[in-house]
Amino acid sequence: MITPVILCGGSGTRLWPVSRKSYPKQFSRLVGNETLFQASAKRLSGAVDSLSFAAPMILTGSDFRFIVTEQLAEVGIDPGAILIEPESRNTAPAILAAAMHLIAADPEAIMLVAPSDHVVPDITAFHSAVSKGLAAITDGKLVTFGIKPTHAETAYGYLELAAQPNESGTAVNLKQFVEKPDEARAQDMFEAGTFMWNAGIFLFKAKDIIAAFEAHALDLTGPVMNAVTNAKTDLGFLRLDPDAWAQAEDISIDYAVMERAANLAVVPFDAGWSDLGGWDAIWREFGPDENGVVTSGDATPIECENSLLRSDSENLEVVGIGLKNIMVIAMNDAVLVADMSRAQDVKEAVAALKAKG
Ligand code: GDD
Ligand code: MG
Repeated sequence: MITPVILCGGSGTRLWPVSRKSYPKQFSRLVGNETLFQASAKRLSGAVDSLSFAAPMILTGSDFRFIVTEQLAEVGIDPGAILIEPESRNTAPAILAAAMHLIAADPEAIMLVAPSDHVVPDITAFHSAVSKGLAAITDGKLVTFGIKPTHAETAYGYLELAAQPNESGTAVNLKQFVEKPDEARAQDMFEAGTFMWNAGIFLFKAKDIIAAFEAHALDLTGPVMNAVTNAKTDLGFLRLDPDAWAQAEDISIDYAVMERAANLAVVPFDAGWSDLGGWDAIWREFGPDENGVVTSGDATPIECENSLLRSDSENLEVVGIGLKNIMVIAMNDAVLVADMSRAQDVKEAVAALKAKG
């Protein structure tokens, strides 16, 4: 039995105006009829493809707790524990808290840590990769999932394989894990051909990740343990203790553990994956037409090329004439118009609006 641990505390500012502080991207219907969070939970539920998933554990902030329960109810999934982080301290404390909570009930608990904001179109292939990961955790390995890189990306972690992946796709040991390199290093690693991107999905036994924290990020263990043991139940949510939580360092699992641990393995996963890191990724995910145009909602393109026209409002029609490499995302209270090549700069819009007050 695997317990899915779904992380949904991130903010996703590059997908403004659909992704908001009060309603981040994982809870939005960005592609398809389900939210990214709902699709993540469905991918990890029940007994499928010879895997068996326990009810998912959810880690989120207080503001999102009812969105979580409503969205799970909509897709008919009963959650396991819902842990509420008093404030966002990034993924390392969150994952450690999940491990400590799980191990109290089952010393051999297996956890599959999954982001809530990715698109994984081929679920059967994903389950098959998870099965291969299961074979590797028996000897205490921390399993990552590797995506074949398509360019020198600086927003991802890189996994250096100790050997070429084998045909059956079973886990390969890792030589090193490099989180978010600078451009030059990303270019070197992309060209070397021995690196994969880290998908941000992890599989391990709770006891093994706790041991890794003890070895590489010992300072986190005390505060997180106190936050878990002093957690308070509130309407079915488990609120981690705020005073203890405030003592935990704000750091991601990638920096706190993965870059430092020697017992990592990677299962290659090449069946399609996107972390929807910007509107250009959404445009790609929808599948542009022969002119490179994507429309969503009430949108009408006239002689446009390589553009995204999207209306997220029921009574707002978007019309584009002669647009080239432009994205337009219209909502009731905000409209974004930007050059497609500036997709990564959308977070600047959020910062500018915040500064304006
Ligand atoms: N509960 C909780 N609390 N969730 C969080 C928090 C937090 O404080 N911070 C982030 N998350 C969630 C996000 O919502 C997302 O689902 C997931 O954890 C990963 O966090 P990101 O902030 O999106 O990480 P990243 O994209 O910069 O980097 C990670 O993912 C890449 C692949 O998308 C790393 O693991 C990289 O190595 C990896 O390549
Ligand atoms: Mg991300």
